[in-house]
Amino acid sequence: MYPVSRRAFLRRAVLGGAALIGSPALVAGAARPARAEGATLAVYNGQHRPPVEALIAAFTAATGIDVSVRHGSSAQLASQLIEEGDHSPADLFWSEESPSLFALSEKGLLAPLKSDTLASVPANYSAKDGTWIGATARCRVVVYNKAAVDPKTLPPSVLDFASEAYADKVAFAPASGAFQQQIMAVMILRGREAALAWLKGLKQYGRVYNSDSAAVEAVEGGDIPIALSNNYYWHALAREIGAEDVQSAIYNIGHGDPGTLITVSGAGVLKSAKNAEAAQRFVAYMVSAEGQAAIVGAIAEYPLRPGVVSPFPLTPFETLDPAPVTPNQLGDAGAALELLREAELA
Ligand SMILES: [Fe+2]
Repeated sequence: MYPVSRRAFLRRAVLGGAALIGSPALVAGAARPARAEGATLAVYNGQHRPPVEALIAAFTAATGIDVSVRHGSSAQLASQLIEEGDHSPADLFWSEESPSLFALSEKGLLAPLKSDTLASVPANYSAKDGTWIGATARCRVVVYNKAAVDPKTLPPSVLDFASEAYADKVAFAPASGAFQQQIMAVMILRGREAALAWLKGLKQYGRVYNSDSAAVEAVEGGDIPIALSNNYYWHALAREIGAEDVQSAIYNIGHGDPGTLITVSGAGVLKSAKNAEAAQRFVAYMVSAEGQAAIVGAIAEYPLRPGVVSPFPLTPFETLDPAPVTPNQLGDAGAALELLREAELA
């Protein structure tokens, strides 16, 4: 097994960080047979870099349209877009998570997407008003260390981890946007008091990590037996270590429990876009068969367009039996932050 530092280095190389903020950089395909007239499409990106870079390369090769990207966290870029308003240089926002898109839509900053584009994926993963689209899905899972945990002994609900029986055994990342969406799901399904009690229990008995990836790495290294995470962090680690050598595994709770929550990454076109037509083409390409294949080849997320297959050994989407909560119900996830503060986790 690699030492942690080497694993961490490799993982960053494999999955990339979306939290680095840089000046816009031109991403150009090596060969562009057809050059389109017009300016460069400006993308604000909160999603992990590898799928974004893969899609942009394919899009530019297919259309001849150049793309510039500003990377950041989705929440930070959404705040920036709200501040910039009509003067934003951005044409399109690709968000790692739906709450940032929801917030922009609420502010009236997003233009309606074309109906053909929206029809490419199931409607319940996109905005009700058609201003943003879910392109790929990720799943909240339990990651466990195979030597330390018999998965048959894992509890029926993610709420059960907030108890003395799991003292010092469960890693979680309250700063993660995905964890905040999971808090929303607990609140929607079980009520605010139950969600607050869950968080207070996790604060008392669980262990806080800075990120899902750090939590998954700690499980893999044997530092802690269990982590709450998005599925793709484990797949990135497993791919780099090798299926035979990986010490951890994914457990899906299922049966509608908030421990198994589908969330989406997706995109919206700014109303103020100077390259609106190119931006609409980009979103259409994201949910085309070619575009979806480029994205899911670079990150272990589920393609939302029917018929596209991920090269990762994902738990089949149809068998997840996730919490019955849609991205629209998660809203801007602002209530989760309030609960985190109340539980003294933020
Ligand atoms: Fe992530």
